[in-house]
Amino acid sequence: MILPKNSQKVEAVIVVNDYKSFKEAREKLSGSVGFVPTMGALHEGHIGLIKRAVDENETVVVSIFVNPTQFLEGEDLDKYPKKDLADIEICKRAGVDIVFMPTIDSIYSKDELKIEAPKIRGFILEGAKRSGHFDGVLQIVMKLFNIVSPTNSYFGKKDAQQLALITQMKNDYFLDTNIVPCEIVRDSSGLALSSRNVYLDTQEYKRALSLSRALKEASLMIGNKEFSVDKIEDTMYEIVEPNIDKLDYIAVVDREFNMVDEVEINNTIILVAAFIGTTRLIDNIWI
Ligand code: PAF
Repeated sequence: MILPKNSQKVEAVIVVNDYKSFKEAREKLSGSVGFVPTMGALHEGHIGLIKRAVDENETVVVSIFVNPTQFLEGEDLDKYPKKDLADIEICKRAGVDIVFMPTIDSIYSKDELKIEAPKIRGFILEGAKRSGHFDGVLQIVMKLFNIVSPTNSYFGKKDAQQLALITQMKNDYFLDTNIVPCEIVRDSSGLALSSRNVYLDTQEYKRALSLSRALKEASLMIGNKEFSVDKIEDTMYEIVEPNIDKLDYIAVVDREFNMVDEVEINNTIILVAAFIGTTRLIDNIWI
């Protein structure tokens, strides 16, 4: 096989670093293409998405790009974990065909045309706490969709609001990819896997478990027919508050991300976002 210019073959995986080389490699693919966009530092959560993509498609593309436009001033862009070689190895073992690792310059131009998150759904919860974050997410995901032309695109439910907004962008812009939501992967103690978990020291890790504990308690309450959002949020607050350093929100929304007063089975998401030390974690459960 003749490889595109800015690419290398790492055994079964082709790693490409710019749009033109990607297109050359992409043109050789036939059949359905599964796509898993990531910011690298791959963990079992990503591997779950990749495995599903491998099972459901003839070929699979993973992008690894720490997207600067979705980080706010003062966030962890500079220290965001980078593990390129280990990530490529993980992709290779998981059966990925192409790893797309573009440089910033090959992706962004100086005077960019911008995509903006919708004014309501994009500006509550994560959007309120991280103003501008979703503009950056939608901008990069739109670019990646256009570059990769995926049949199926895989996103984790942990970033529930991101998933809702990307689904809306697909619908609003008539994008031709199928969005596949994938279950949250947790460690044996219940902590939702995240690339940011590496920032937690032992004590912080223990405190971080209060997030999933609170969500589990909420789910038990609902199992016992307690549907009042006030009561559920109070209980969650009691569990989380003593363990964290700053609470961004505990919230209950429907699948369209409207705030609700009552839980409705099969149409509710319960979310929490909090700082443990300087690490910001989010988690949720879908009811
Ligand atoms: O969820 C992520 O890792 C990122 O927000 C994404 C979708 C790869 C865009 O940079």
